[in-house]
Amino acid sequence: MYDCFYLPVCREGEKTARKVFFYMISIQKLIHDYFRQDEDGNVAEKVRAVDGVDLEVHAGEFIVILGHNGCGKSTLAKHINALLYPTEGEVWVDGMNTAEEKNVWDVRQKAGMIFQNPDNQIIAQVVEEDVGFGPENMGIPTEKIWERVEESLKTVGMYEFRKKSPGRLSGGQKQRVCIAGVMAMHPKCIIMDEPTAMLDPSGRREVVAAARDLNKKEGITIILITHYMEEAIDADRVFVMDHGRVVMQGTPREIFSRVEDMQELHLDVPQVTLLAHELRKNGVRIPAGILTKEELADALIKRGAEQKGRDRSVVTHH
Ligand SMILES: Nc1ncnc2c1ncn2[C@@H]1O[C@H](COP(=O)(O)OP(=O)(O)OP(=O)(O)O)[C@@H](O)[C@H]1O
Ligand SMILES: [Mg+2]
Repeated sequence: MYDCFYLPVCREGEKTARKVFFYMISIQKLIHDYFRQDEDGNVAEKVRAVDGVDLEVHAGEFIVILGHNGCGKSTLAKHINALLYPTEGEVWVDGMNTAEEKNVWDVRQKAGMIFQNPDNQIIAQVVEEDVGFGPENMGIPTEKIWERVEESLKTVGMYEFRKKSPGRLSGGQKQRVCIAGVMAMHPKCIIMDEPTAMLDPSGRREVVAAARDLNKKEGITIILITHYMEEAIDADRVFVMDHGRVVMQGTPREIFSRVEDMQELHLDVPQVTLLAHELRKNGVRIPAGILTKEELADALIKRGAEQKGRDRSVVTHH
């Protein structure tokens, strides 16, 4: 269903165009170099932050990107939002090449971005005004702005706080206001760069639930960058980065079954997955890649029942 097709008569450039139109996001052989300068303004050091990434995301997918500090996740994210331009390679968002200046405004509208710290993203003194800021900037007529503000605040569960000052909200609530602000611009895709990093566990749950609702109910493509493995278990696909490259990709179950590979990359797996992995290593026969407490409980109950059945048959046999 996801395969691309080309017309046989296409020339090379046209082939690329056809291919990228097929995806919400298409990243091809992306390289990003940062240049550090010395005091005299000469290039002292080149840092290759993204080193040949190919990545394609279909409309409506929920993608999680994992990877230890400094592996290039944020740099990659900024390319999808046209905050950075490729040193080499191409990034296409909804059929638009981010390197073309005429596309920058449209790309940023199509692909909204949420950062770690909600305090840096909230501008207005009242929640509803903050959410209305984006659509107002886009020149949306006033009554439509209020419709969008209401719809967005309801989606993230913050409608009852619409008249409040953002300063009085919890971290999780502030971040949900930020998400509503991006949603009010009607993006097709939202990139969230560690949106839960500064939140307590309940704030984290609120924000991840809001992201999931945006994806499932509104059909918005979500790219979530996180250090919390538990936040990845509901993703459609997970990409793992290391040293600027995508080194693993697959479903959460495929990725988290590879506990040792993840550990080699200095990454965790969800706690329950690790526990199940240890049990398996100690001879308990349960499936690999268990992701939730419920799955582990079910597997152990099933295992217990099998064991009981075997014990009974041994007794009968005697
Ligand atoms: N503005 C910059 N100038 C120079 N080097 C940079 C700049 N931003 C990032 N880097 C370097 O590029 C590499 C990738 O950084 P990036 O922020 O993309 O990683 P990350 O995976 O998001 O890390 P983290 O998990 O800490 O957020 C790192 O080596 C970092 O030091
Ligand atoms: Mg980062």
